Amino acid sequence: MLAVCGQKIFLNPTICISSEMLFSSQLGHAYNNIFSLRLGRDKVVFITGYKLVKEALVTQAENFVDRPYSPVQSRVYSGNAGLFFSNGEMWKKQRRFALSTLRNFGLGKKTMELAICEESRFLLDEIDKQKGAAFDPTILFNNAVSNIICQMVFGQRFDYADHQFRTMLKYISKSIQLEGSIWGQLYEAFPAIMKHLPGAHNDMFSNYKLLQAFVKEVVVKHKAELDPSEPRDYIDSFLIEMMQKPHETTDGFDEENIVPCVLDLFLAGTETTSTTLCWGLIYLITYPEVQEKVQEEIDRVIGRSREPSISDKANMPYTEAVIHEMLRFGDIVPMNGLRVADKDTSIGECFIPKGTAILPILHSVLFDENEWETPYKFNPGHFLDKEGKFVRRDAFMAFSAGKRVCLGEQLARMELFLFFVILFRKFRFSAAEGIVHPKMNYVIIYSPFTCFKPVRVFVFC
Ligand code: HEM
Repeated sequence: MLAVCGQKIFLNPTICISSEMLFSSQLGHAYNNIFSLRLGRDKVVFITGYKLVKEALVTQAENFVDRPYSPVQSRVYSGNAGLFFSNGEMWKKQRRFALSTLRNFGLGKKTMELAICEESRFLLDEIDKQKGAAFDPTILFNNAVSNIICQMVFGQRFDYADHQFRTMLKYISKSIQLEGSIWGQLYEAFPAIMKHLPGAHNDMFSNYKLLQAFVKEVVVKHKAELDPSEPRDYIDSFLIEMMQKPHETTDGFDEENIVPCVLDLFLAGTETTSTTLCWGLIYLITYPEVQEKVQEEIDRVIGRSREPSISDKANMPYTEAVIHEMLRFGDIVPMNGLRVADKDTSIGECFIPKGTAILPILHSVLFDENEWETPYKFNPGHFLDKEGKFVRRDAFMAFSAGKRVCLGEQLARMELFLFFVILFRKFRFSAAEGIVHPKMNYVIIYSPFTCFKPVRVFVFC
């Protein structure tokens, strides 16, 4: 149980299924950072450690830009579609379009900052409303964070009491968990058989159907209200793009692709950042001295009389270091997304034939003993020099690297800074009576095909 400013929050982290990560790191040590395993039908080459992961993702970016075939995703999206799983020309065009459209709707600009600050006020009000009763911060964080991407993509935010939206958020979490569970893995390995068998994988597909139906309904409404001279959001812009240019069918500006693209942004923009915020909450409760230093810096640099701004970052090296350490230690996408070799090549000493799937393990980089002074300790000092100035670290790859680096990195960084600062400016979070150390268990959801999805989920109740 935790207390926030005298309020109690119960905290029951779910079961801890260890440890694909440990397994892959240990095998990495044993086999010079590169080894292969058969995952179902296909052999996958695991790449571990900063040096080799960088070689695969950055130095050989062109050779490993595509993702391999996934039976789960091809059933959900029917082939080459969306932002995360698409390949080739479609992926290039859609990624470029998504980035520029998100910029048009505020990404990296003052308008986005104001939207996050406004959403934070709703979040603070919700926490205030608890008046000391136990409550579940996971759901609130999820809703608050999701509202930011929803404003850019759907053109609206959803109230914390909106039952339908809350249900959608639950479907997102549940689908992600199922995709990484044994059921998702069995479907990836034996789709032809699993298709006909009962099991939880069927819930995963029905959850995705419901999410798609939700998005489709919003798209239909947008179509009816569309004013091509005044696009309100990503969906409007996509519809206008579909109407205006005679596109190649391979570009993906069509009816079939709009829902997958919107859904990818909605899913990726919701779970990742809120899971990181949850970890931040746990770490700062566990290390009250870190929380105190963050609050001292917030009070000194921002104070109480004005809204925080992204430009404050430059004057808040300690807070910046804590947020980076939250991302490193939280390690929410430990396995990364799968890639496939575009041609015969080699990594390190190992020959990789064209068509081989590779998995550049981010966990092994974020905890690489050759790169971090105290990899297994939550230590904001990893990002500070002797004078207390913030320092960037090459092995900080929480958002991956190279051509398929997280498309939402800039947005996530902005959200994390502002939500974090606004929460910790107002509240002091601490463990409630009787709880000496909050537990730090987690669920690892391993899905090689769904890297942007959370791999550690808290259940507060
Ligand atoms: C703390 C927050 C986040 C983390 C740690 C994170 C991490 C990642 C990682 C590791 C990848 C895989 C990159 C690769 O395959 O090499 C990825 C991809 C992606 N992320 Fe994020 N992400 C976060 C937030 C977001 C947000 C807020 C959005 C919303 C716009 C987003 C959208 C995407 C998309 C669309 C991709 C697929 C990119 C592509 O394949 O071209 N992410 N993310």
